[in-house]
Amino acid sequence: MARVIIPLDQPTLDNALGLVDSLGEAADFFKVGLELFTREGPAAVEALKKRDKQVFLDLKLHDIPNTVARAVACAGALEVDFLTLHTTGGRAMMEAAAGAAGDGLTLLGVTVLTSMTASDVGDSWGRPVESVRPEVVRLARLAQESGVGGVVASAWEAAPIKEAVGSGLVVVTPGIRLVGDIAHDQARVATPAQAVAAGADYLVIGRSVTQASDPTEALRRVHEEMAGPSTVGAGGLA
Ligand code: C5P
Repeated sequence: MARVIIPLDQPTLDNALGLVDSLGEAADFFKVGLELFTREGPAAVEALKKRDKQVFLDLKLHDIPNTVARAVACAGALEVDFLTLHTTGGRAMMEAAAGAAGDGLTLLGVTVLTSMTASDVGDSWGRPVESVRPEVVRLARLAQESGVGGVVASAWEAAPIKEAVGSGLVVVTPGIRLVGDIAHDQARVATPAQAVAAGADYLVIGRSVTQASDPTEALRRVHEEMAGPSTVGAGGLA
């Protein structure tokens, strides 16, 4: 059964904990990203752990192998559950990271950001890219070969990843929107039902919940859509 992770893309820890406490038992896994960690540091992780929540530290590490390995060890000491690094940092970087991660920490390799289109990827990599999907699958395979436990991709790539590398690799999908919600800066979006049908293990759902007038009700709808049939095509999203 797929699970939901709520990103705490909030300016302060007070704001973030206000959201965590208002969602209560309905949410048990939260993502601490660049904004909150840069401002509040490890205190953000500690406050969530104190509330018995699981923590996804989304730092998207990308540096030389030694530097990344040392940062991974620091994150491990914080007892976070998930930590991201960019697969484009390469095999040596990911192998060093995997060697530094303790038993309780799952490393997630970011494949292609869900905000990017094929044309964006082509611009960055200096060659024509017709479709993001084969690039994502290639990077997921590299992550698995390097000892990384999971990947981050859009829901549209979840099934091809599982087909290519098997069910052992955890697939985490951001870019999830409730039916009728706007995509914001995300390019490769899917509904909760589509992500579940594609075989995603974890759905990261931010603004559809956190910016809703009633986040608890929005999260209830997410769970309802996850349990229902995937009847909505890509055009079902605004
Ligand atoms: O608000 P929204 O649902 O777009 O939030 C998505 C979250 O997932 C953000 O915190 C963003 O940093 C993160 N993320 C992403 N795409 C990735 C990796 C992480 O959108 N490839």
